[in-house]
Amino acid sequence: MNSPAMQGLALNTPAYVKHARLIAWVADMVALCKPADVVWCDGSDAEYDRLCQQLVDAGTFKKLNPAKRPGSFLACSDPSDVARVEDRTYICSARKEDAGPTNNWMAPADMRETLNPLFDGCMAGRTMYVVPFSMGPLGSHIAHIGVELTDSAYVAVNQKLMTRMGKAVFDVLGTDGEFVPCMHTVGSPLAAGEQDTSSWPCNPEVKYIVHYPETREIWSYGSGYGGNALLGKKCLALRIASSMGREQGWLAEHMLILGVTNPAGKKYHVAAAFPSACGKTNFSMLVPPEAGFAGWKVTTIGDDIAWIKPHADGKLYAINPEAGYFGVAPGTNMHTNPNCMLSLNKNVIFTNVALTDDGDVWWEGIEKDTGVVPGHLIDWQGKDWTPQIAKETGAKAAHPNSRFTVGAQNNPALDPQWDDANGVAIDAFMFGGRRSTTVPLVTEARSWTEGVYMAATMGSETTAAAFGAQGVVRRDPFAMLPFCGYNMSDYFQHWLDMEGTLAKTGAALPKMFCVNWFRKDDAGKFVWPGYGDNMRVLKWMIDRIEGTVQGETTMFGTAPVYAEVNWAGLDFSVEQFKTVTSIDKAAWQAELKLHDAHFEKLAYHLPQALVATKAELEKRLAAV
Ligand code: GTP
Ligand code: SPV
Ligand code: MN
Repeated sequence: MNSPAMQGLALNTPAYVKHARLIAWVADMVALCKPADVVWCDGSDAEYDRLCQQLVDAGTFKKLNPAKRPGSFLACSDPSDVARVEDRTYICSARKEDAGPTNNWMAPADMRETLNPLFDGCMAGRTMYVVPFSMGPLGSHIAHIGVELTDSAYVAVNQKLMTRMGKAVFDVLGTDGEFVPCMHTVGSPLAAGEQDTSSWPCNPEVKYIVHYPETREIWSYGSGYGGNALLGKKCLALRIASSMGREQGWLAEHMLILGVTNPAGKKYHVAAAFPSACGKTNFSMLVPPEAGFAGWKVTTIGDDIAWIKPHADGKLYAINPEAGYFGVAPGTNMHTNPNCMLSLNKNVIFTNVALTDDGDVWWEGIEKDTGVVPGHLIDWQGKDWTPQIAKETGAKAAHPNSRFTVGAQNNPALDPQWDDANGVAIDAFMFGGRRSTTVPLVTEARSWTEGVYMAATMGSETTAAAFGAQGVVRRDPFAMLPFCGYNMSDYFQHWLDMEGTLAKTGAALPKMFCVNWFRKDDAGKFVWPGYGDNMRVLKWMIDRIEGTVQGETTMFGTAPVYAEVNWAGLDFSVEQFKTVTSIDKAAWQAELKLHDAHFEKLAYHLPQALVATKAELEKRLAAV
């Protein structure tokens, strides 16, 4: 390999970087990718401002009206690059069985042979940014360090908001600390002398999102978007981390973490797994209803990912490895998520939302705040949009998976412990899919194993967060289908084993609940009001933890009776309650058939305890 020095390219390594292995790796990657320049990100505000200005100059960013949205920008992506690409995502473990039937797999050597020519010269004409970041509070025993090499300034600035990014990471790394190498390129090299004319460089044809769990490496090619490109997020904090967690006895989960404090000042912590675009950000920032919930408070620890470790006291402690939110814009307004709206007042990067004529942003659902839809917008693809055009063509002004990137500090409901290096002790887990039918509003598992069963068989209707058909029910175990870095059945076993680990200490296990905010009536409308009213369900769960309500036993766990729910300020009849809580025998017979098919697919290493739990459920259903 030609050394960078031989190519005449300076590595520009700052004096504060004293990690020989890291420097050697950067040198190797420079030799491979052949960028025009190398920039080490220090994470400073000055650097952020400089890169944002550069993105404005390149046409990637549009600076929003500073009177309306100070410090904020809009980026519109290539129309081919708007979501995660699950069919281009690979877990390249040495053995195919270790990736399991839910992941795409290729032998590591074959994948390296495929990627090497693609990465060779992939950054020609572009700058390589060296982006050091910590997932989790700097120096926390639960945290891990990653270093992303990317030719996207958009990625670098997003990483500044989403992670603890910059110079301080090198203090933690020292001369030989562990880090996960994360290679990222937009896959659009420039020919000698060619000017970059694209405002969103990417490779519309070729994309690879590749993980080598054994050597803990990430290689991402061709996309500049979200989970494909911000490699600390789904790639490191879920796929690689889940594999680390399995080896080391902890959990990396697609879960929000919230604190909920009752009027007496007692605080509980809840972690909830809902699939992509199924309500994690919203639930993590919940504002309790005014009537009937005086003195209740919900605070956000994390909105997407949780790293959870058992401690000697027998409790599970969770941290949010991220430092910002990459959240779904459509549907967000002051009614559904006021804390989120307030977080978006300044210093935000918006991606694929619409632009108003006065230089602000707009998306479907935000009109609820003003009651008016603007007469004219520029849509996410740069085209004119009017209510009339929308009526005629159905065109959305904002892409359904349009997002905001914002630092956690912007959130008025940020939990005081959100940055605690030791994390918070989890009192309850929630698992919830998007199901128009069948699955009731809330049930509590009668045992840890039953909870694992509920999570393992969870179904959800697909959303715009990933490429592919939408609204199709698929099994999304633990909301981890696209994110588990190893064999799904082994992952179930890992969860089952956690009971034994915790039981040794004699401490109470977290309770496990299954929820569904998305049941619809015959007219196709959501029956449950959702959002802030989800507090009513959360309160019932806490009452269960305290043992102050009994619930009733159903075939699918313990469920609330109508009188146990606090209905203050909400007109929700017994009939409506039945619509969202009923368990229909025929629907469940069909549902259990889907569980069969799911388990058949996962037969290799499928824990017997789950098969036995299914037999129990069948018996209960037969008796209904
Ligand atoms: P990812 O960031 O993709 O992991 O999504 P998420 O799980 O954080 O979902 P988010 O909170 O962003 O919500 C996604 C969509 O679901 C938004 O359009 C919300 O408005 C909508 N949504 C969230 N909570 C509820 C709810 O309780 N009821 C209904 N009907 N819709 C909801
Ligand atoms: C998700 O799809 O679950 C997200 C967005 O949180 S992305 O970062 O693109 O994965
Ligand atoms: Mn997510």
